Amino acid sequence: MEIGKITGLKGTITIPGDKSVSHRAIMLGSIAQGTTEIHNFLRGADCLSTIQCFRSMGIEIKENQDIVTVHGKGLHGLTAPSDILDVGNSGTTTRLLSGILAGQEFDSKMSGDSSLNTRPMRRIIEPLTQMGANISSIMRNGCAPLYISKGNLHGIHYHSKVASAQVKSAILLAGLYADSETAVTEPTLSRNHTELMLKEYGADVSASFKLGSTVATASVKPCTELFGQNITVPGDISSAAYFIAAGLLVPDSEIVIKNVGINSTRSGILKVCENMGANISLLHETRAGGEPVADILVRTSQLHGTTVEGPIIPTLIDEIPIIAVMAAMAEGTTVIRDAAELKVKETNRIETVCDNLASMGCDITPTDDGMIIHGGNPLHSANIHTLLDHRIAMAFTIAGLVADGITNILDSKCIDVSYPTFYDTFEDLL
Ligand code: S3P
Repeated sequence: MEIGKITGLKGTITIPGDKSVSHRAIMLGSIAQGTTEIHNFLRGADCLSTIQCFRSMGIEIKENQDIVTVHGKGLHGLTAPSDILDVGNSGTTTRLLSGILAGQEFDSKMSGDSSLNTRPMRRIIEPLTQMGANISSIMRNGCAPLYISKGNLHGIHYHSKVASAQVKSAILLAGLYADSETAVTEPTLSRNHTELMLKEYGADVSASFKLGSTVATASVKPCTELFGQNITVPGDISSAAYFIAAGLLVPDSEIVIKNVGINSTRSGILKVCENMGANISLLHETRAGGEPVADILVRTSQLHGTTVEGPIIPTLIDEIPIIAVMAAMAEGTTVIRDAAELKVKETNRIETVCDNLASMGCDITPTDDGMIIHGGNPLHSANIHTLLDHRIAMAFTIAGLVADGITNILDSKCIDVSYPTFYDTFEDLL
């Protein structure tokens, strides 16, 4: 995809449904009793992988225009897949599904694409094994393909080294099938969609913070049944982030982004924008599907550098590539730290962000857990090596809108993972 410099993005846009919420709605709908209707479901490749996995385990899932209907068969209603479950590029499918598969009576295998099969799975193998699950890395390298067979699960209190919603969710989902309460404590609160949605489906979940610390604990009691729900998925703030950045960076712009999920465990990007001097307002704040939502009004702003570190990191982990692009265009220095998790995303995002921004003329230095960006140099066009990482493709599309010359996003089709209509959304702003 070739991107040129523009001015004056104006209009109102709607962003597709949240990826994390869409995955969870299919998973919980499949193991609930009765019908679940999901409105504004994200038809991105990752969520379609989740649908396909559950279809392979006997769940009927119908896709109509705007509604996905899941005919759940209850906690013990899944059937053995006849083949290896294909999780594609999706870490969320792999890790959360591992928690559910650990509670099943049948054996299963999961495998994904070449990126997915290099991502760390010991982080879920270890706690699930402690719970009594039989789960192993088939190549014995701590990665997928994974093999899971029947085990007897018991409740544990797991202290996770990383603040990861995927790890927390895998444990809580396995906890539904355990013989006593299961708890997870993480160093900083990660996105809490699993806890919120489990409650909606009828599970006995609690979540707490320790006063004076950032440590967060979530727990679930063993469950006899979940019940099908009507779920409206909010717009994905991780997808909205590209248009927030476009509105701020492209001269003479004013964009309203409708119906975006602003759950505080996801909305760190808004705080960072505010710290950088952005002109952003939230309008029409309300709730949808148990989650807070709002319209976001963005106007072109002169940004300045900031420091992004500490407990805010898990609330914006997927937005760091686009934050780095904003920082490249901001006056002064931006420091991003405490974000070593970037190294184990779809690509090593410390490397992919730094290499590509440097190739556009940005003064940027990678660090062990983040990057240092001296902003304000004009960006120039380059060939952007996405390495098939959807968030790199989208973040550097925005960089291309403000760079001199024609920026070429290589393998831009990888945006299908989370936002297949990303380039169409721009049509509404021209
Ligand atoms: C996700 C959690 C995050 C995020 C990923 C989706 C989820 O990963 O990066 O895109 O839906 O739970 P971690 O929780 O492992 O950081």
